Amino acid sequence: MTRRIGRRGFLGLACAAAGGVVLGGCAGVPASPLPVPAPRPLAIPPLAPSTTRDGVRTFALTAAPGTSAFHPGVRTPTWGYDVAFGGPTIRASRGERVRVHVTNGLPETTSTHWHGMTLPAEHDGGPHAPIEPGATWSPEWTIEQPAATLWYHPHPHGVTERHVHRGLAGLFLVDEPDGASPLPHRYGVDDIPLVVTDRTFTADGEFETRRRSAHGLVGDTLLVNGTVAPYLASSSSRIRLRVLNASPARCYRFARSDDRPMVLVGTDSGLLAAPRTVGSALLTPGERAELLLDLDPGRPVTLRSLPQDLGAVSGTERSIGAMDTLDVLRIRPAGVLEPSAPLPGALPHEPGPDESAASRVRRFELGNDVINGRAMDMTRIDEIVQAGATEIWELANVHSRPHNMHVHDARGQVVEADGRAVAPAQRSWKDTFYVPPRTVLRVLLRFGRHPDPARPFMYHCHLLYHEDQGMMGQFVLVPEGTDPGSVPRTPLTHGADHG
Ligand code: C2O
Ligand code: CU
Ligand code: CU
Repeated sequence: MTRRIGRRGFLGLACAAAGGVVLGGCAGVPASPLPVPAPRPLAIPPLAPSTTRDGVRTFALTAAPGTSAFHPGVRTPTWGYDVAFGGPTIRASRGERVRVHVTNGLPETTSTHWHGMTLPAEHDGGPHAPIEPGATWSPEWTIEQPAATLWYHPHPHGVTERHVHRGLAGLFLVDEPDGASPLPHRYGVDDIPLVVTDRTFTADGEFETRRRSAHGLVGDTLLVNGTVAPYLASSSSRIRLRVLNASPARCYRFARSDDRPMVLVGTDSGLLAAPRTVGSALLTPGERAELLLDLDPGRPVTLRSLPQDLGAVSGTERSIGAMDTLDVLRIRPAGVLEPSAPLPGALPHEPGPDESAASRVRRFELGNDVINGRAMDMTRIDEIVQAGATEIWELANVHSRPHNMHVHDARGQVVEADGRAVAPAQRSWKDTFYVPPRTVLRVLLRFGRHPDPARPFMYHCHLLYHEDQGMMGQFVLVPEGTDPGSVPRTPLTHGADHG
């Protein structure tokens, strides 16, 4: 039973949402004056084509402006990689060598970062790897990490929110080399990518960018793989959803509309040790979850986002949309469904490190647009880490607002949340960590193995406006035994060749 509320919602509040369900109201989030369109099939991002020669699988992406039709008859100017909005799904296996030619067809400098990837710093695509208009940047690396749902997006210094908000983002799926998976794995059939983001539209169909909250741009309309009000027809009795929160700021708590549990099988950087039954899954910007949903023949169910307690202490939850109930995806199972295999008791995964492996502890205080009291400075190296190290990073949100922390070139597990130990069986691999206001997370992080003292990686809040405002720092990986005094203080910036 879908309750439909028009753009003038109850109590006179202007409220629109994908699918039309606004149970909690969305006061505090700018409202779109466009009517909610009729449900339409969920778009599935195309798989990026590749060619393999001399052992290198090569992809090509072009970032360029385009025009999208999110609402019938309304043209919205957008940016995308190869497509008008979003980007194709790149797919490669652990052990493969990959190269991506990224061409900038935009009117301004951008960069393309492989979020969650472990790789040499020169190929990471952060703010030190600008791609000027007309230029092509061609990073190449070997995939050295377990199967996971990663993604790619722009990371130009100070304007990441704008570039992502215009539409640039895509998935990068890493597979195990044997291709065998005990989980549903037919792309777009029972293995469904869900890139979830939010926008407010202006009356003439543009993305609203002028009304920004303290958290950044928050919208009232969900775009799921670029589809407003999407539905998915399924003939499988079990589907796997690879959910990415690609929003600039909005957080989601995903749950089924029929209150049945879901099965969590993966987080940011890989699969869990065993499937875990969950009532809901909270994803803050940049985080991913792989969820299994069991379906009944002929009985529709909706994936929703429910209100979240983000722990904000100064009543800022409305302006980030935390009180909203939003339909994400309507699922329409066929009358007869293909049966599914029994759930595996254990999943292929990499065991987590032991805390005794940590060589040191660093503390990061997340404040108001600063980390440890300092705003991002492109010319300052904040931390020097040994390549291949395992460390404890203590993430302390000393502010009254929600923040998270993403660390490039690292994968880790939360071992303690606000003073409570997380049992090893409850840990999972991640690269982006939600840190509620006034709380501390202890994260056991394992860093990449490629030292490069001249080129930094980033760590930052993934609420993109906060990142742009300066909630970011830089670290370099150095070979074991390096004297920190010998590390250059001025990082190398390396642009792309003009193509
Ligand atoms: Cu997804 Cu440094 O970013
Ligand atoms: Cu990243
Ligand atoms: Cu933040």
